[in-house]
Amino acid sequence: MSPDTLHNPMSLVGRSMLVTGASAGIGQATAVLLSRLGARVTLNGRDEGRLGDTLSRLSPVSNGPDGGHRVAPFDMGELDAIPAWMKEQAALSGPFDGVAHCAGIQTLRPIRIFTQEFFDQVMRVNLGSCLALAKGLRQKGVKAERAAMVFISSTAATAASPANIVYAAAKGGIIAATKGLSAELLPDGIRVNCVVPSIVMTDLIERGFEKLSQEQIDHLQRLQPLGFGHVDDVAHAIAYLLADTGRWITGTALTVDGGRTA
Ligand SMILES: NC(=O)c1ccc[n+]([C@@H]2O[C@H](COP(=O)([O-])OP(=O)(O)OC[C@H]3O[C@@H](n4cnc5c(N)ncnc54)[C@H](OP(=O)(O)O)[C@@H]3O)[C@@H](O)[C@H]2O)c1
Repeated sequence: MSPDTLHNPMSLVGRSMLVTGASAGIGQATAVLLSRLGARVTLNGRDEGRLGDTLSRLSPVSNGPDGGHRVAPFDMGELDAIPAWMKEQAALSGPFDGVAHCAGIQTLRPIRIFTQEFFDQVMRVNLGSCLALAKGLRQKGVKAERAAMVFISSTAATAASPANIVYAAAKGGIIAATKGLSAELLPDGIRVNCVVPSIVMTDLIERGFEKLSQEQIDHLQRLQPLGFGHVDDVAHAIAYLLADTGRWITGTALTVDGGRTA
């Protein structure tokens, strides 16, 4: 076999990656995939027990403790503390080549019960955290010479999603922030992209479905020509944008939605 046959442009061997929301769903699948591609992964979420479960699923990349990976519990709603926390993590894990920001929250709530507290929480955890992570990553010692960030938006931002307006606004904000940050962080050698998934079966969606009738769920399924997605469908897109396959891509919102918005 010639060496060219062995070249894998998605290889992450020798790279250090931070994955937020790694204790469940899309973040967990992303962390597992990045480790399979050879990356050392720092796992963030708030629930240490569930992060330990993710850690046990990762492919070891070194003989060090925990196969070269680490857990790093922290609340992504603590915006002002995120940059300093990232500095501590980079000192322990090595400068980050990539950040997959998968932490997010969604609670279905019609506009008639809108409150300021609800707005602040949804905006802070979903959108504010992207901005604080971007601020943190560009610090000296936190990023490798070249780095990439991937955020998760949602088709809730690009196709009507009733009773989900604040979440949709936060996810729309992520698309706007991705564009602005891609230009602002270009001189720092940081690419910034987001993925825009439709419905993928995770705890987040199962909690939302508890509030819907079977008829409503069937309607949502019919809206997606390729059916509901799997966490790996989104993880693959994130890995593509983080790896050298995404080398020439920045400021993009990559739709991964089973045809929902086609
Ligand atoms: N599933 C879908 O259909 C879908 C579609 C479009 C977009 N998305 C987006 O994709 C991302 C992942 O969603 P998912 O479906 O995988 O959700 P999930 O299964 O509910 O997992 C959410 C993850 O976010 C973490 N998290 C939540 N709040 C946090 C906080 N304040 N600080 C740190 N971590 C926090 C959770 O960890 P802890 O509980 O341990 O903190 C968990 O690991 C979210 O941004 C979501 O909006 C999902």
